[in-house]
Amino acid sequence: MLETKYQTTAVIGSQWGDEGKGKITDYFAQNADVIVRWSGGDNAGHTIVFDNKKFKLSIIPSGIFNQKVTCVIANGCVVNLEKLVSEINYLKENGYSCENLKISDRAHIIFPYHSALDECQELARKEQAIGTTKKGIGPCYADKMNRVGIRIGDLLDKEEFVKKLTFNVEHKNKILKLVYNCQETFDVTKITDRIFNELLPQFQNYITDTRVLLDEKVKANQIVLFEGAQGSLLDLDHGTYPFVTSSHPIASSIATGTGLCLKAVTNIIGITKAYNTRVGEGVFPTEFEDEIARTIREVGNEYGTVSKRPRRIGWFDAVILKYSAEINGFTGLAIMLLDVLSGIKELKICTSYLLNNQEIKYVPSQIKNFAQCQPQFITMPGWTEDITKVTSFDQLPINAQNYLKKISELVGVPITMFSVGPNRTQTILVQ
Ligand code: GDP
Ligand code: IMO
Ligand code: MG
Repeated sequence: MLETKYQTTAVIGSQWGDEGKGKITDYFAQNADVIVRWSGGDNAGHTIVFDNKKFKLSIIPSGIFNQKVTCVIANGCVVNLEKLVSEINYLKENGYSCENLKISDRAHIIFPYHSALDECQELARKEQAIGTTKKGIGPCYADKMNRVGIRIGDLLDKEEFVKKLTFNVEHKNKILKLVYNCQETFDVTKITDRIFNELLPQFQNYITDTRVLLDEKVKANQIVLFEGAQGSLLDLDHGTYPFVTSSHPIASSIATGTGLCLKAVTNIIGITKAYNTRVGEGVFPTEFEDEIARTIREVGNEYGTVSKRPRRIGWFDAVILKYSAEINGFTGLAIMLLDVLSGIKELKICTSYLLNNQEIKYVPSQIKNFAQCQPQFITMPGWTEDITKVTSFDQLPINAQNYLKKISELVGVPITMFSVGPNRTQTILVQ
């Protein structure tokens, strides 16, 4: 049978998010035709730095800065219309047009009642709170699963839209009031007027059946980039449930999140921090908090892009990454923020866990067991040199080279690139 190899690459968060997906998407976008966000919503915060400019995007694909690229928000995403319009305007104010933006008519809309429910649910969970971004992601995906969600395509038929919104608003107001004792309730006319009079005119032209468009682009062998949001350990099924997001950030969800078939994805790059971070609650075996962790947090600017919350810091966890490589099928790794480790005398890498006195090299499916895992470390010598200006693997100090080689060896995936600073130019391909 004829083998087809499309020119497509997936940029996947391999840990708990914030690995640098925005940076790598922007880097690859310089030589791409199409960039697709296929999951999550504005819980994502992606940072792009070039030419002394810094941008933060949450829902518009990070490839937008190459103005020739078609940017797609595909069906698997959930879209907050206020955020969408504010990002379109933020880009416009900075000289970037969104004329090449396409939004799936199948994508679901996040409404204000979703964010209110997110907030109430978090409060009700008390000490079991997930630490969500409170953007309404979970409640919106829950409505989608429950088949009461309202989609972007519904905006094209106002009468139908109002019918669906009325059902939802009545239902949600009851839940907010009676279950959560919440004072805030929502009004159909107010929401409808805001959307139809002010928001929709600013993006209506971008709405389309993106599945058809993507199918054509892939088959025409155009260079298509899939920009992941969140990280694999936040995956609803394969992450550290229930401390996860409500979507599927892993590569296999590209198919359902876009309508493309599985073979449409050829290269799968695991975007990986040279250490580990996590925001929100949940087990984090290699977490530590001391002077070194504080230095990493400050040097790496480890504060949430969206929420500004300080990120939790941990040593590199090869067990997590191997798991991530298995569930995603990584064809290569991009090791990010390597520069942040400069000056740390000894670097630890977790190579296995001790669970009930037994050594294991996998991520347990039950959170209780995962919480009992004690990380087993090897120690690698660090380096003191400033590496922010290196332009090849060979220019790295030998200890940094060995650190990368060890990661690759433990995970069984080649390192195809690494990053030594936030700027687009501080990205180095490994031959
Ligand atoms: P994303 O959500 O995966 O796109 O990542 P975020 O943008 O939330 O967080 C990554 C942070 O690291 C951002 O502040 C980036 O500007 C920054 N960053 C990316 N790569 C590097 C790097 O190699 N070195 C340093 N120092 N910062 C980096
Ligand atoms: P990017 O794309 C890091 C985390 C939240 C919380 C959990 C559930 O920038 O890597 P949610 O609001 O999704 O219901 O929150 O998931 N989370 C992220 N953490 N980076 C992200 O996105 C995240 N998106 C969600 O902190 O623990
Ligand atoms: Mg982020």
